[in-house]
Amino acid sequence: MKREDRLIGLYVHWPFCRVKCPYCDFNSHVSAQVDHAAFKAGMLAEMRHVANRLDRPSKLCSIFFGGGTPSLMPPELIAAIITEAERIFGFATDIEITTEANPTSVDAAVLGGFKSAGVNRVSLGIQALDSAQLHFLGREHSVSEALAALAMAQTIFAKVSIDLIYGLPEQTVGSWEATLQQLLELGLDHLSLYQLTIEVGTLFHTRWRRGDVLTGSDDLVADLFSITNTRMEEAGLSAYEVSNYARNGHECQHNLNYWQAQDWLGIGPGAHSRFDHQGKRIGLVTRRSPKSWLEMTALNGHAVEVETVETPTGWAREMLMMGLRLKAGVDLDLIERKCGPRQLWLDLDKLATYLDADLLHFIQNQNGDRLATTANGRLLLNSLLVDISK
Ligand SMILES: C[S@@+](CC[C@H](N)C(=O)[O-])C[C@H]1O[C@@H](n2cnc3c(N)ncnc32)[C@H](O)[C@@H]1O
Ligand code: SF4
Repeated sequence: MKREDRLIGLYVHWPFCRVKCPYCDFNSHVSAQVDHAAFKAGMLAEMRHVANRLDRPSKLCSIFFGGGTPSLMPPELIAAIITEAERIFGFATDIEITTEANPTSVDAAVLGGFKSAGVNRVSLGIQALDSAQLHFLGREHSVSEALAALAMAQTIFAKVSIDLIYGLPEQTVGSWEATLQQLLELGLDHLSLYQLTIEVGTLFHTRWRRGDVLTGSDDLVADLFSITNTRMEEAGLSAYEVSNYARNGHECQHNLNYWQAQDWLGIGPGAHSRFDHQGKRIGLVTRRSPKSWLEMTALNGHAVEVETVETPTGWAREMLMMGLRLKAGVDLDLIERKCGPRQLWLDLDKLATYLDADLLHFIQNQNGDRLATTANGRLLLNSLLVDISK
C-alpha cells in the first residue's frame, strides 16, 4: 500500500435519545430542544479540525453514526456530514456507512432519507424478542414494532444488523435457544448479541446496589454465551468478535477497524480519535457534555479537550486488548515491529500458563502466527486481558 493510501474510519456521535434506558452508560441525553443547525456547524467544523491533524492524506473506508440515537438526526444533517466527509477525505470505493437506529425513530421516510444521503448499512436496537424483557429493559417499543422496523429496514438496505441484550434474570437456556432460533429466521447477515452489563452510573447500577437481581447467574450467562456461539456458527454466522456474529464478508468494517487498532477520527460530543502521526499513536477526546461541546465548537471550531501521545507499551497493550476480542486474534510480530520487544508489553509467564490451559492458542495463517482466545478463553476474556498485558 502506498503511504498516501491509508484508509481510516470516521465516527460521528449523536448524543440524544427519546428516553434514557436504565442499563445504558453511553453519552446519551434526553433533550426537549436540539439546535440542529448549531450541531451541523459544529460537526462540520470539528471534522475539518481533526482532518487537519493527520500527517498524510487518508481516505475513509467507513463512517459510523453512533449514539445516542442517530436515527433522530434529520437526514439532511446526515447528508451534509457525508458530503463534507467525501470532500475532505475522499471515499474508498466500497465505503461502509452505518447508522445506528432505534425502532422508535425509524419510518420509511427517515430510512429512505438516510439511504439517499449515502448510508448503506443500518444497525437496529431490537434488544429483546419478548415483551416482559423489553419492559424490564425500559424500552419504549413492542416486539412487533421492533420487527416491523427491521422488516422495513431490510426492504431499504442490503446490510442490516441488530443489537440484542441477553443474560437477563428470567432467561433460561430453553428460552434463549428459542430466541436464537427466532433470530436466525430473520434473514440477517450480522448480529450483535451483548451480555447485559451493569454499568456504573446507570439506574440499573443503583438498583443492583440496593440488592435487585438484574442479570442471570455467572454460570448461566456463560452457558448462554456458549450456546450463542455454537448456534450462530452452526447457522454460518461466525463469532468473529466476542459479541458479534456475521456471515463471511458481512463483518462490520468500522468495528473491525477499532478491534484491529487501526486509525479513526471521531467527531461530536465525547468522541474519541486514535491515529498514527509520524510513528506516534495520538489520541483525541472531545468535550462530553452536548451543551459545552456546542459552545466550544462555536468558539474554537472544535471541542477537542484531551490529547494524548501513547507510549509504545500503551499502544501495544491497546493492540493486544482489542485484537484478542477477535476470533482471528492478533499478530504479535506486527506489534513488536511497531512497539518493541514483546517482553515489554506481554507477560510471557502468563502467556505460557494460558497456552497450557487451552485458554489461548496460536493460529497459523498465510500472514504468520496470530495469538487468539480459544472458546474457553473467550468465557474469561476480561480477566485474561488484564492478566496477560504488562
Ligand atoms: C447506541 S445503542 C444502539 C442504538 C439505539 N440507541 C438503541 O438503543 O436502539 C448501542 C447498543 O449497546 C447495547 N448496550 C448498551 N448498554 C448496554 C449494557 N449495559 N449491556 C449490554 N448492552 C448494552 C445495546 O444493545 C444498544 O443497542
Ligand atoms: S440504549 Fe440506545 S436508546 Fe437507550 S439510552 Fe442507550 S443509546 Fe439511548
